Amino acid sequence: MNRIKLWDKEFEISLKYSDINQAIKEMAEKMRVDLQGKETLFICILNGAFMFASELMKELELTDAEISFLKITSYSGSNSSGEIKELIGLNEVITGRTVVVLEDIVDTGNTMKEVYDQLIFKGAREVKIATLLFKPQALKVDITLDYVGLEIPNDFIVGFGLDYDRRGRNLKDIYTLVSE
Ligand code: IMP
Ligand code: MG
Repeated sequence: MNRIKLWDKEFEISLKYSDINQAIKEMAEKMRVDLQGKETLFICILNGAFMFASELMKELELTDAEISFLKITSYSGSNSSGEIKELIGLNEVITGRTVVVLEDIVDTGNTMKEVYDQLIFKGAREVKIATLLFKPQALKVDITLDYVGLEIPNDFIVGFGLDYDRRGRNLKDIYTLVSE
């Protein structure tokens, strides 16, 4: 499929699964060296990172790792910054641990900054961020990305976990919105 339609919008293939898979393999190589013996807790950010996390874990083959899942809900608060993010489902003890957050894409960076701060607040010894995709031109906050699979232009994409209005997450390749 080179061109797809989701709801009312057209998308064109922009990253093939073989390229995504290669980027994940390279990330796994680096991680294996860095994390050997650290009893790492991986945290997969739902829903978007499910496919990335699954492929990365299979490549990593660490025998002392654990994986957990975290959902983030955004809602408008009454404070001045407007939006509050709540972390749901994290029951593990974080204190003193090496934590690696697995995210599908870093856009403005707000989500990862919030997750990072909250994990540090919960007492993590170190928090690393691994994102499959990164839009450098969209970044708005000061944040360190320890592992980046692929840098992409500032366009809206779907596939490999990412959705447009709930559709497209299941697709193996990544597609870019065709501008009208
Ligand atoms: P950030 O907080 O602005 O970095 O946004 C990160 C979140 O926005 C990701 O976890 C995605 O859920 C979503 N997002 C950002 N860019 C895209 C995109 O191009 N397609 C689909 N979802 C996106
Ligand atoms: Mg997401």
